[in-house]
Amino acid sequence: MKIAILGATGNVGTRLTDEALQRGHLVTALARSAESLPARAGLTTKNIDVNQPAALAQAFAGHDVVISSLKFLNNDPRRIIDAVKATGQAAGNSTRLLVVGGAGSLFGTPGVQIVDTPDFPAAYKSEALAGREFLNTLKGEAELDWTFLSPSALLLPGERTGKFRLGQDDLLIDATGKSSISIEDYAIAMIDEAETPRHTRKRFTVGY
Ligand SMILES: NC(=O)c1ccc[n+]([C@@H]2O[C@H](COP(=O)([O-])OP(=O)(O)OC[C@H]3O[C@@H](n4cnc5c(N)ncnc54)[C@H](OP(=O)(O)O)[C@@H]3O)[C@@H](O)[C@H]2O)c1
Repeated sequence: MKIAILGATGNVGTRLTDEALQRGHLVTALARSAESLPARAGLTTKNIDVNQPAALAQAFAGHDVVISSLKFLNNDPRRIIDAVKATGQAAGNSTRLLVVGGAGSLFGTPGVQIVDTPDFPAAYKSEALAGREFLNTLKGEAELDWTFLSPSALLLPGERTGKFRLGQDDLLIDATGKSSISIEDYAIAMIDEAETPRHTRKRFTVGY
């Protein structure tokens, strides 16, 4: 597959790029400093700013899937969504958009998203609220082929185990009461979804 990864130089984006390349996909890494990434077979890099709509749509052209791994704060969802739609329209098809999500919009108890609970860390609140807004914008899209993958509460570099659970809208908690996933395992779940769409026009989550 041809996969464009926006934010490919970031914490999550680098692991998504590694996972996709390891599986033999052709990856276009996009970020303002993408050209700083080391050269590898199957990898093309292109420096781009998300605030350049025409260039963004052009950069997405020819890819089966676009994965966005940008921070949500100060990032208008419309820029990415409209660029993906423009790309699909120009090609006469529907380019898929997969979004690296946040955990804040997951439900910890029925009807309560964790970002709205008093214990939610203040340092992550603005980013989590912006992530929820992004998800809500996707839900309002009539035709876009989108998927939003929320990590568990802790998303940190770690091991690539391949052993994890998938869920829908509820926060996953392991047997020790912890909600976590390594970025490496998160990347497996995301590239699995890119290869085999199982959560079209839905949010899902991954955790131990
Ligand atoms: N548990 C959780 O809920 C949790 C935990 C961690 C992360 N996350 C989510 O995961 C996502 C990715 O986070 P991360 O930690 O990987 O972020 P990050 O390391 O800050 O990476 C952000 C990426 O976006 C690129 N970027 C920033 N501004 C850009 C612009 N104007 N145009 C083009 N590219 C731009 C950066 O590269 P350049 O600077 O080169 O442009 C970089 O590649 C976020 O949505 C975050 O909310 C969720």
